[in-house]
Amino acid sequence: MFQADLLQDKVILVTGGGTGLGRAMGERFLELGAKVAICGRRQEVAEQAAADMARRSGGETFATRCDVRQADQVEAMMNAVIERFGRIDVLVNNAAGNFISPTQRLSPRAVDAVLGIVLHGTFYCTLALGKRWLEQGQSGTMLNIVTTYAWTGSGYVVPSAAAKAGVLALTRSLAVEWGPHGIRQVAIAPGPFPTEGAWTRLMPRPEMQEQFLHANPLRRVGQMAELTNLAAYLISDAAGYINGEVVTIDGGEWIGGAGEFNKLSELTSQEWDEIAALTRGKKEGGEGPNAN
Ligand code: HXC
Ligand code: NAP
Repeated sequence: MFQADLLQDKVILVTGGGTGLGRAMGERFLELGAKVAICGRRQEVAEQAAADMARRSGGETFATRCDVRQADQVEAMMNAVIERFGRIDVLVNNAAGNFISPTQRLSPRAVDAVLGIVLHGTFYCTLALGKRWLEQGQSGTMLNIVTTYAWTGSGYVVPSAAAKAGVLALTRSLAVEWGPHGIRQVAIAPGPFPTEGAWTRLMPRPEMQEQFLHANPLRRVGQMAELTNLAAYLISDAAGYINGEVVTIDGGEWIGGAGEFNKLSELTSQEWDEIAALTRGKKEGGEGPNAN
């Protein structure tokens, strides 16, 4: 759906780009002409992914080990990517940690594990690169991967919800503060896109996956190409006037859960016949007060 050179020669850093959505986005960016750097805590996963991605696309990739919770490692990563490619044009804050749990069962370390990756990690990467861009007068784009419960909240993933809400606030705040310097901030809020990392931690039972499918107005999960094309557009120059915006891509999942009467889609046609009689003032099984 795009011209093959949409992202020609853009240098894009995708945190957590060795797996899942990050890897899929990196692959699409490479197809569109970008140079892609990825990072993760597991060096071998990142290096293997970068090698595979380069082989498939014929493009240039670079992998570096980095735990985004460690500000010194983030600094070292930025230096390494800039040394390799000369600059960074786009940062995709994609690395995340998450799992389902009743909140009262969480230890402080469990809370820190998620907040550290999602909120602090995103902030450290944003700050490290933003400072460099500002010092050099370079423009650029930051794309943050959040999710819809960044604004609805959600039980059972509360550290993630709090962290993603913080990342959304970061997106909107810096859109204004750094916008005058040519630095755009955008976010994507995906609904369910099956990845090993998310599914093992969030939907460990098959019936949970079924529930999610059933609750989605489109009755399906997202396809990677749908997400990666949206990401490519948002970081491209074609989206140059989009700043501080979050784009939801969830098949209508969150508004499906929010609408007061949406659960009525469970009713059968026969039940609707009965309800139609009631809402016209007829009593169930008999004539109503306005039966004439
Ligand atoms: C309760 C848990 C837990 C669980 C870990 N902990 N898993 N508590 N339930 N399932 C606790 C541990 O007991 C420990 O606390 C603390 O958390 C730290 O655990 P570690 O294993 O030492 O942490 P670490 O190795 O840093 O791993 C971080 C992690 C892990 C977040 C816990 O899951 C991870 O590495 N995740 C990365 C990938 C990921 O999560 N991908 C999915 C993103 S999906 P104590 O006190 O016992 O020491 C996503 C989708 C959102 O975000 C929207 C979907 C629609
Ligand atoms: P994933 O495959 O588990 O991806 C997470 C990546 O982050 C991994 O590559 C992991 O690599 C990396 N990572 C984790 N902690 C890190 C750290 N401290 N430092 C550096 N890298 C770290 O999960 P995913 O489903 O693709 O999720 C990607 C993004 O999409 C996340 O922001 C997630 O919240 C968001 N999202 C996903 C869905 C979905 O349905 N899949 C829905 C909404 C939002 P290492 O383990 O090697 O560090």
